[in-house]
Amino acid sequence: MNKIGVLTSGGDSPGMNAAVRAVVRTACCKNMEVTGIRYGYKGLLEEDFVELNMRNVCDIIHRGGTKIYTARCPEFKYEESVRKAVEIAKKNGIEGLVVIGGDGSFRGARDLSNFGLPCVAIPGTIDNDIVCTDYTIGFDTCLNTIQHMVDRLRDTIESHSRCSVVEVMGARAGYLTLNAGIAVGATAIVIPEIPYDIEKNVIEKINRTKATGKNHFIVMVAEGVRFRDGITVEQMAKEIEEKTGVETRATVLGHIQRGGSPTVRDRVTASQMGTKAVHLLHEGKSNRVVVMHGETITDHDINEALNMKKTIDMDLYNCAMEISL
Ligand code: ADP
Ligand code: F6P
Repeated sequence: MNKIGVLTSGGDSPGMNAAVRAVVRTACCKNMEVTGIRYGYKGLLEEDFVELNMRNVCDIIHRGGTKIYTARCPEFKYEESVRKAVEIAKKNGIEGLVVIGGDGSFRGARDLSNFGLPCVAIPGTIDNDIVCTDYTIGFDTCLNTIQHMVDRLRDTIESHSRCSVVEVMGARAGYLTLNAGIAVGATAIVIPEIPYDIEKNVIEKINRTKATGKNHFIVMVAEGVRFRDGITVEQMAKEIEEKTGVETRATVLGHIQRGGSPTVRDRVTASQMGTKAVHLLHEGKSNRVVVMHGETITDHDINEALNMKKTIDMDLYNCAMEISL
């Protein structure tokens, strides 16, 4: 293989730049050229390319977001677009592709592989919702950002004896909310994977805790709960205030969670995954996803990976419930 491409796709995540840098530097070691494809699959279809080399990926390891940009490209679900993308790659001498993104992006990588462009995917999403891997790039940075922000909220709610209902990102997954909820000492945690009853799991809990002398409360709610149940954090806050007598405010953390300089964990993991992806392409592998099992970086078939179902860690959930007194 003489030339490979690299793209970032779907929601950006801190550490994507570190992964791109590792892809480029590893390819340089293998005497391969690298084409950076800007704006994900959209850029591939529009031939929006930039040549990447060991020097122009300097000074990006510490930057959040993605320097080669990202996009959502709905038409990539159609065979016609995938075939066109394979032709464009061939015309430009791109013999293999590294795709950094979430499971939607993996489906695009699988389709490209099936139509003749060898692809290796790297899990990059703050949500950590990809089944085949213990870890996705960006999760740790995002958790730290949430923790810093909610610690600030705690200062003010404690001063006013209030309750704070905080919406955390995760359209389909509660891993961010559960982990951050434990880290910030939340009184209640509401995630889409686990059915909840606002009376029993939130209001009664606040009232019980209040009776033991606590004066401020944090309720962490995953964004996915709004999509699943149609209830907003503002509506929850109103109901909590009415039924507990505690003044309650709602905060939607929003996209601020997705930015920021990646943590050491994300920089190191992204670097390892980027290197592994290039090794796989160099060995002639295709339709693989780089994964982390425990502390080990390995790889998996994308089709198998997409068919797995990720479940919530009930030990972690039960731990959160036991200690949120
Ligand atoms: P993520 O990769 O973070 O899950 P999306 O679900 O938005 O983000 O997917 C990113 C992109 O991957 C989409 O905009 C589209 O270009 C491509 N994609 C998503 N689903 C498919 C699919 N079923 N087949 C082919 N490509 C897909
Ligand atoms: O990157 C994943 C994610 O952050 C989800 O948790 C969230 O729902 C979604 O992206 C929102 O992305 P956007 O606002 O860019 O559509």
